[in-house]
Amino acid sequence: MSTTNPSAMRVTAPAKINLHLRVGPPTADGFHPLSSWMVTVGLFDNLEFTLTDTPGVRLTSDDPALPTDASNLVVKTATGLLDAANLAASTGVDITLHKRIPSGAGLGGGSSDGAFTLLALNQLLQLNWSPDRLATLASRYGSDLAFFCHGPSSICTGRGEIVHPIAPPCAKYAILILPPIHMPTPAVYKRFDQLLPSELGTRNSELSPPDYATWPTLTAQELLPKLINDLEPPAFSLSEPLADLHARATKILDARIVRMSGSGSTLFTLYDTRDEAETNADRLRLTLGVNVQPVELAPNRGAK
Ligand code: C5P
Repeated sequence: MSTTNPSAMRVTAPAKINLHLRVGPPTADGFHPLSSWMVTVGLFDNLEFTLTDTPGVRLTSDDPALPTDASNLVVKTATGLLDAANLAASTGVDITLHKRIPSGAGLGGGSSDGAFTLLALNQLLQLNWSPDRLATLASRYGSDLAFFCHGPSSICTGRGEIVHPIAPPCAKYAILILPPIHMPTPAVYKRFDQLLPSELGTRNSELSPPDYATWPTLTAQELLPKLINDLEPPAFSLSEPLADLHARATKILDARIVRMSGSGSTLFTLYDTRDEAETNADRLRLTLGVNVQPVELAPNRGAK
């Protein structure tokens, strides 16, 4: 985070990937219990905040497709924080969002923007709320927001909002394959509920957490075979182009394991070195004809 004037601040909000994502059957509230290792990646939205004495939250964005009204998580979280801090009657905030993280891509862009809005306003308004207190407020607005209040590497359980920080992976780089496919998260979970265990095809149907403690010490080649995303079968059954892209990427990378993040559509694989990630990203980009980006895993917060 950077501050030049005490009532203004700029932050960079990172995307995340789910390295591992196990999903259980839905509970009475319709949500699914999860066990997921989430890490931030070096792909960022930029947010600028200016406090004013005109009450209200005003958001502008360089992405014309993005709603900037009360349905946007940035507006929701800023409004929620001002209310919770009893400042809504006296204080307002103007926010500009430079959108770089694609939406509907399983990268948590909207959630990151919402969580970093809370972190920035906590600092700007000098509230000194703890990350836990911010995460509790954040989780009202979506399952992924609490993760971003802690970052950069955590095991997330519950519906995603129970966050246990863990060391980042020893594999420091990923390739993100970013097809122009928007995956609607509720529809992917709904399809998950419709698929038979045989169609889900997961290696074990239990949600008992693996021994995550050793996973951060593994190299990319050691870690990749352990990773599962239970939402791949439903996402691939909803989008044939995504299933096809997954198969082609795997083949181009000589059968390297390629996983999907969240409910899709981003696909990724891991590397130990920047060189390997860059070289293989070039190979994929040439052949797949979609946006492919090598990124750092768990970059320092605020880095670009
Ligand atoms: O919490 P979030 O807004 O990210 O959830 C979007 C949708 O994804 C929910 O409305 C629900 O359909 C589904 N979901 C779920 N179980 C979770 C997280 C999300 O069923 N643990």
